[in-house]
Amino acid sequence: MATTTRRHFLIGAGAATVAAGVVAVRPGVHGAPHQAYFAHLNKVLKDAGIGTPTLVLDLDRVRANAQRISAHIGGRMALRLVNKSLPCLLLLDELSKQCGTNRQMVFSLPYLQLLTKERPHVNVLLGKPLPVAAAAAYYRERTANGFEPARQLQWLIDTPERLAQYRNLAHELRTPIQVNIEIDVGLHRGGVNSDDTLRHMAQQIKEEPLLRWAGLMGYDAHTEKVPALAGNRQRARDHAKARYKESLDVMLGSGLMIPIEPLTFNTGGSPTYRLHDGTGAANELAVGSAVVKPSDFDTPLLDDLLPAAFIATPVIKASDHFTAPYGAEWASQALQWWDPNQRASVFTYGGNWLAQPVSPEGLSNSGLIGKSSNQQILVGSGLQGLQPDDFVFFRPTQSEAVLQQFGDIAVLEQGRLSTRWPAFPAMA
Ligand SMILES: Cc1ncc(COP(=O)(O)O)c(C=O)c1O
Repeated sequence: MATTTRRHFLIGAGAATVAAGVVAVRPGVHGAPHQAYFAHLNKVLKDAGIGTPTLVLDLDRVRANAQRISAHIGGRMALRLVNKSLPCLLLLDELSKQCGTNRQMVFSLPYLQLLTKERPHVNVLLGKPLPVAAAAAYYRERTANGFEPARQLQWLIDTPERLAQYRNLAHELRTPIQVNIEIDVGLHRGGVNSDDTLRHMAQQIKEEPLLRWAGLMGYDAHTEKVPALAGNRQRARDHAKARYKESLDVMLGSGLMIPIEPLTFNTGGSPTYRLHDGTGAANELAVGSAVVKPSDFDTPLLDDLLPAAFIATPVIKASDHFTAPYGAEWASQALQWWDPNQRASVFTYGGNWLAQPVSPEGLSNSGLIGKSSNQQILVGSGLQGLQPDDFVFFRPTQSEAVLQQFGDIAVLEQGRLSTRWPAFPAMA
């Protein structure tokens, strides 16, 4: 009898320990209604009669970010706006004016055509080498409007083979072509990675009067992805700068004719622009995404910038209970029991964007049910207090290829929707 009692006691104690353990690891409840910024935005969008997924651009934050970026660069280097990351002409106009630059980095034929047609005063550097067929199409399809490619456009060239193709194009067109050489400073995405190849390309340019050397481009975003262990990241940064300097020395020592126009030595990008102060070989920085700061750019170097672009989308259905489809209902019940943050659900108008829900706080994608571009389910504790027609706000993970998905951009200024700006067409 005494043994039985002891066994019962042990079993009971064991069960209590397991239960305590389960309680300890079970997720705590979290979530809250929209805080002031998004509560206001929710109201503004409703008052404006908006009922579709909308890209909201906070222009005050854009301006504040642009001011900080300009202040960091401090006039020590030129600034080139990254066109694909800010895909809206009026936004680019605004930034060009505020930052005092007419330089843009462009990555596709359609956007090159659009930009040079609409803004003939612009100065363009391609950010990736385009197939020569795309370059030929550019010259074939353009109409004269004051934009002078021979003076205002630098094609990016990554290999001697491509350089030969562009030389042939220049011959066919009987027009001078400016070429900027892409150098590999450690990213290994493309670009020239040997001094001999650079010398060879310098020679090709020397032999062809229609080819004009316009500068170098070395993109260094990889350095901030290198784990900062045992000095690795700093080594990658130093290596990138050293490779740039060596490449420049090779070019300057090649006997190439240096044009009267200042050469363009482009580097950086949002993740690394703060690492440059004009004392290195580069004289120009490309910056785009940092101006609107999507979540992929939440890095210590960009800490002082504010997110400025959000996707606002209406709630179609809000429910206190998350119920998985028939046949899997038991699974949602088990999940709700386990995680109080999966008790409630909302279905939004659209979804499956390159974006994360940010407001109201505590919503997440369902691990049980996949994403949907039509009506996306989000789960939460219910503390968000959402009703149909309320807005859920997502923060894009990147701005490139996302800002174009919602038609005209809703511009927020001083807490009011001041205007709508057409986004670029979604094209590659
Ligand atoms: C060559 C080059 N420079 C600069 C950038 C930086 O763009 P962002 O400032 O938007 O990160 C990119 C981005 O892809 C790039 O490919």
